[in-house]
Amino acid sequence: MDTSEIEFPRLELMVATDLKLGIGKGNKMAWHLPTEFSYYRRMTTCANGSEKVHASIFATKTWQSIPPEMKPWGNTICFILSRSMTEDDVRNYSDVYVHSSLEEIIAHMRQTDMRKRIDRVWMHGGGFGYKEALRSKHFYRLYHTKIDAEFSCDVFFPRYDECQLQIVDDPDVPQGIQLDRGVSYQIHVYETTGVCPLLDAP
Ligand SMILES: NC(=O)c1ccc[n+]([C@@H]2O[C@H](COP(=O)([O-])OP(=O)(O)OC[C@H]3O[C@@H](n4cnc5c(N)ncnc54)[C@H](OP(=O)(O)O)[C@@H]3O)[C@@H](O)[C@H]2O)c1
Repeated sequence: MDTSEIEFPRLELMVATDLKLGIGKGNKMAWHLPTEFSYYRRMTTCANGSEKVHASIFATKTWQSIPPEMKPWGNTICFILSRSMTEDDVRNYSDVYVHSSLEEIIAHMRQTDMRKRIDRVWMHGGGFGYKEALRSKHFYRLYHTKIDAEFSCDVFFPRYDECQLQIVDDPDVPQGIQLDRGVSYQIHVYETTGVCPLLDAP
């Protein structure tokens, strides 16, 4: 597939999972890996020298899991995917918007004024947000940090078929096996082939 055909916004997913695809517990991260966190922060907040900024999409619980001192997310334009939150809940922040579906978020991003401000678009999860993005025709890339350990988790990344994706190189990503506090992990970057990779899609 020629990925230049994917219409704006091109959704890029950023996730770290353990060996069982666990992503969190008790609405927190289940591990503490400072090097992985700084990679995540750098990739999702630093636009590549352009005047544009990145956009961030969070489903409700993931947004709520961000500590107050880290909200909103860097200098990104934030979109929250929620049916229970309202604009009133984010009135203390500028450039944070709430929508009840991914389609509404995409429509907002495509408005002329918004579109010209946005560089890359990152889906930050959680489980619900990832599924929505992987199903979308706007899905472009998956940045998957695979942690070589098991943690106690109560939320999981959706199972997907790697064969339906192609592996790509991104020079901005740490290459090879990384070690942090005795835990090893490796970052894999996948690109869409135009086929939904979800294995348990309803
Ligand atoms: N390891 C990682 O890379 C990573 C990344 C992100 C998050 N996490 C972890 O993941 C956990 C949070 O993820 P999560 O899966 O529990 O929650 P989530 O996907 O962040 O949020 C789920 C919420 O999405 C909202 N939503 C909006 N439209 C919906 C619809 N049509 N159907 C269902 N829900 C809809 C619902 O809230 P409303 O009632 O407001 O609609 C629902 O409760 C935390 O533990 C966090 O630390 C880990």
